[in-house]
Amino acid sequence: MTVHFIGAGPGAPDLLTLRGRDLIAASPVCLYAGSLVPVAVLDHCPPGARIVNTAPMTLDEIIAEIAEADAAGCDVARLHSGDLSVWSAMGEQLRRLRALDIPFTVTPGVPAFSAAAAALEAELTLPELGQSLVLTRTPGRASAMPQSESLANFAVTGATLAIHLSIHNLARVVADLAPAYGADCPVAVVWRASWPDQRIVRATLDTVETAIAGSMERTALILVGRVLGAEDFAQSSLYAHGYDRRFRPQDASSRFAGAGE
Ligand SMILES: C[S@@+](CC[C@H](N)C(=O)[O-])C[C@H]1O[C@@H](n2cnc3c(N)ncnc32)[C@H](O)[C@@H]1O
Repeated sequence: MTVHFIGAGPGAPDLLTLRGRDLIAASPVCLYAGSLVPVAVLDHCPPGARIVNTAPMTLDEIIAEIAEADAAGCDVARLHSGDLSVWSAMGEQLRRLRALDIPFTVTPGVPAFSAAAAALEAELTLPELGQSLVLTRTPGRASAMPQSESLANFAVTGATLAIHLSIHNLARVVADLAPAYGADCPVAVVWRASWPDQRIVRATLDTVETAIAGSMERTALILVGRVLGAEDFAQSSLYAHGYDRRFRPQDASSRFAGAGE
């Protein structure tokens, strides 16, 4: 028996990995975080599977479900939205499974920030303009932030920010970032990236609060940074004519001649 933790992707049911799909199809039990996991992904469950929405459950109840499947020798597909490496609550489940000696695997998924960037048709790292991406959030009712991880601290770096779980804190986001990024810094808000009702608002730090017009839907990502909408950025050396590299040696005297074969 194994518990398969699977990143179910940002919303569109076809943004699920083939490995994830196959593990769901092979598991007689499926536990899914119903608040954000697309229900269509459950179509991959085998006939007769026990399918449980864990959104209203406590951690103890979820672990009890897993222990029951373990006792019955049934594999479990454990689905969380997006990828498992960020804000999935996988860590606390793995800690309990290790203590119970229940085996597990982890299969990544497409994270929300990737889906949002795709919706914006944006590369979030552009040469010389922005080479770092910070995935972060603002403090919430259930989660405080480590003191050093304030938006104001990240703002000092000027890195591109993908701010999760924070649309209701937009006023604070703007107040914390505007001094360092400038009021004219581009912002994009993407609601429900990759879902049929996906919505995008492009604005600046100065205008974003008015631009979103009080939208309350919380499944939204706030992206901030000069890379958004930029056209005036340097070209990368990688594909530049005349750049000597392993896979495109310039001539026979190149130190890479013959190396890429
Ligand atoms: C609990 S976190 C889950 C993050 C997820 N594990 C991931 O890999 O993106 C939920 C937050 O992620 C963001 N989010 C998740 N899905 C999204 C989507 N389809 N579009 C925009 N933001 C999304 C929102 O900020 C939401 O409040």
